[in-house]
Amino acid sequence: MNKTAKLELDGKVYELPTLVGTEGEKAVDISTLRQQSGYITLDDGYANTGSCKSKITFIDGEKGILRYRGYPIEVLAEKSTFVETAYLLIYGELPTANQLKRFSSLLTQNEMLHEDLKYQFEGFPAHGHPMAILSAMINACSCFDPELMEPYNPAIFELEAARLISKVRTIAAFAYRKSRGLPAIYPKPTYKYTENFLHMMFSEPYQDYELRKEVVQALDMVFLLHADHEQNCSTSTVRMVASSRANLFASCAAGVCALWGPLHGGANQAVLEMLKSIHASGDDGSRFIAEAKDKKSGHRLMGFGHRVYKNYDPRAKIIKAKCDKLLAALKISDPLLDIAKKLEETALKDSYFIERKLYPNVDFYSGIIMRALGIPVEMFTVIFAIGRMPGWIANYKEVMDDPASRIYRPRQVFVGPAPRDYVPIDQRK
Ligand code: CMC
Repeated sequence: MNKTAKLELDGKVYELPTLVGTEGEKAVDISTLRQQSGYITLDDGYANTGSCKSKITFIDGEKGILRYRGYPIEVLAEKSTFVETAYLLIYGELPTANQLKRFSSLLTQNEMLHEDLKYQFEGFPAHGHPMAILSAMINACSCFDPELMEPYNPAIFELEAARLISKVRTIAAFAYRKSRGLPAIYPKPTYKYTENFLHMMFSEPYQDYELRKEVVQALDMVFLLHADHEQNCSTSTVRMVASSRANLFASCAAGVCALWGPLHGGANQAVLEMLKSIHASGDDGSRFIAEAKDKKSGHRLMGFGHRVYKNYDPRAKIIKAKCDKLLAALKISDPLLDIAKKLEETALKDSYFIERKLYPNVDFYSGIIMRALGIPVEMFTVIFAIGRMPGWIANYKEVMDDPASRIYRPRQVFVGPAPRDYVPIDQRK
C-alpha cells in the first residue's frame, strides 16, 4: 500500500497519493492539488517533475545505469543491433526471428522516397543545415501519403513506424549529398539498415562504397546507443506534440527541432568544434577548462554534464572504449582523441567538476567515432536523430495507447504586469 503525503497550506492539511515505480523511484501525485487547494507546483526546467509514467527506458543517474525495456545498455551494445533494439523499444519485447524478418523487410520496402520529393531537396540552399532539412523533409514526406497525416490508427501504426525509421535515413543521406552538390544515391534492398545508410552517404554512381565490417558495426552501435533516453528535451517534445493527437511524422519532426539545440543533441557537433579549436590554438585543454569554469566566459565544457547523470554516462563509457578499438582497426591517429582524453582527465580531477558531479556524456566521444567513420561534422546531430527515432516512436505510441492520456498543458505563475489602462500612441513616453 502506497503512503499518502501530507501538505499543510494556509492552515489546512491536504493528502496526496504517492506512487513507487518498478525500480523504487518515488513520486507524489499532485494532479488534484490545485483543485483541492488552489496551489500549483512550480519546477523550473521540470528538473523535479515526472511528466508521465513510462515503461520504455530506465535511468539511474546516480549509479550511471541505463536500460531499454529492462535490458542494460551494455548488453544491447554488445549483443544486439540497432534494428532489433528499435523493435524492442517500440513493441516492448525482443523480436522473434520471424518478427525481426518482418520488421526488417518492412524497413526495406519503405526505404525509397517519393520521386517528387527531389524538388523539395532542390529548394534548399547548399549551406542549409541538415537538421533543418531533416525536420522539414519528415513533414514533407507525410504529405505524399494521406494515410500518414491521419491521427493515430493502430491498424497502420506498424507500417507508419517502419516508414519513418526507414525514410529518415534516406532523407538524411540525400540532405548530405545535396549539401555537397553530389548526386543522390538510391538505397539498395540487399543492404541492411546501417550498410544502406553508409552506401547512400558515400557511394558514387560509378562506384560502390566499400563496406568495412568494423565501420558498419561502429555506426550501428552509435545508432543503438542513442535510441532512447527517457524524458529528455526532444522526447518530451514528441510526447507534447503527440498529446494534441498530431500524427507520428509531425510529432517526430518536432523532436528533430528540439534535438538540434547545442545543449541537447547539437552538443556532439559543438564538442568536435571545441576540440578542433583547442587543437588549432595549441592549447592542451587547460586554458579551455579554466574558461569553462568561468561563468563570464560564456563557454562550457561541451560533452560534459547531464541533467540526470551525476556519474559517468554509461553510453560515454561504451563509446570511449569503441573509439580506441575503431581508431586502431582503421589505423587512424586522431589528435582530437588525445585532447579529449586529456580534457577528461583534467576535468575529473578538478574540484569545480567534482563538486558539480560533471562527467563526460554521450556526446563527448561520439564525434571522434563519427569523424573516424568519415561523417562530416554538420551531420553529427542528424546521426543522433536517426538513432533516436525508435525512442520517439515508442514514446509516441505510449501516449497514443494510453486511454487516460490527455493533452499536455502545463500551467505557469504569471509575474507580468497587473491590469493597466491602454495609452494612445501620442500620449506614450
Ligand atoms: N561546463 C561547465 N560548467 C557546467 C557544465 C559544463 N559542461 N555543465 C554544467 N555546468 C555547471 C553550471 O554552470 C552550473 O554551475 P553553478 O551551480 O555554479 O551555477 C552547474 O554545473 C549545474 O549546471 P546546470 O546548467 O544547472 O545543469 P542542467 O541540468 O540544467 O544542464 C546540461 C545539463 C547537459 C545542459 C549542462 O550540463 C550542459 O550545458 N552541458 C554541456 C552541453 C552538453 O554536453 N549537452 C549534452 C547533454 S547529453 C546528450 C543530450 O541530452 O542530448
